[in-house]
Amino acid sequence: MKQITKAVIPAAGLGTRFLPAIKACPKEMLPIVDKPTIQYIIEDSGIKDILIISGHNKRSIEDHFDRNPELELNLEEHGKADLLEQVKAIADINIHYIRQKEPKGLGHAILCAKSFVGDEPFAVLLGDDVVYNDENPCLKQLIDVYNTYGGSVLGCQTVPQEKVSSYGIVASEATAAERIFKVNDMVEKPAVDEAPSRLAVLGRYVITPEIFSILERTEPGRGGEIQLTDALKVLAKQQNMYAYDFIGRRYDVGDKQGYLEATVEYALRREDLKDNFLEYLKKVVK
Ligand code: UTP
Repeated sequence: MKQITKAVIPAAGLGTRFLPAIKACPKEMLPIVDKPTIQYIIEDSGIKDILIISGHNKRSIEDHFDRNPELELNLEEHGKADLLEQVKAIADINIHYIRQKEPKGLGHAILCAKSFVGDEPFAVLLGDDVVYNDENPCLKQLIDVYNTYGGSVLGCQTVPQEKVSSYGIVASEATAAERIFKVNDMVEKPAVDEAPSRLAVLGRYVITPEIFSILERTEPGRGGEIQLTDALKVLAKQQNMYAYDFIGRRYDVGDKQGYLEATVEYALRREDLKDNFLEYLKKVVK
């Protein structure tokens, strides 16, 4: 079985739910405490070969992962060794970029990764979704499932009934293994009364390369966009596909409530911040 060595991070979406903040600053660069969202995603992935699908107005992502000699010199001169090390480490990650010239949908963004990925299964991490699990990162959990069962693996969790129309929802059956379901069908953002389940795909995937030929034939679907869900639905009929109910708290940072919740969780996990921050929160909610 081929190992997962490559990851694709789509980050070319418009992010309209977070306007006006993201007019000039991409939502993937919104900081959670003191690090951009996309940096948490890359660090948690454990993957060294990464392609970011970039787009219009997304230059600051490339700048962030580049060297900044002027800043490094300044930190060195002022004896800020810790910060210098952090700033240099960011630029050590090997990142490739390709532009999605128009945001034609997540499926179209993934298709832009075709030549980077080649004929291998690969990981997809959405650029605005973080999952908090400090012991076993979400993508590692998915890769463990892939290494045992093969096929494609979708990172899923059960969402409340009223939220099903915000996600790709799977129709699946239980397997002998806990937390692992066999996917039979999928639907993108179904109406509440048409959803086949409450099991939603949440921003992490392991996908086999056969997805690319399917995406090439996929017509625009919901919202006039080329939907990854529509292509995955076809792939699930051709090969084994699993929904894995991952362990961890997932935040949609492209959504205001999700962003605020992520900020609180990550701040409370920081040794240098948690005590004062918790005191402050207690004062605020009194
Ligand atoms: P979203 O579903 O959050 O869509 O994309 P969006 O268009 O960015 O945001 P809203 O709904 O207008 O607020 C999920 C991920 O897929 C990427 C986004 O950048 C985000 O990381 N994406 C989406 C692309 O790369 N290209 C697209 O055409 C659409």
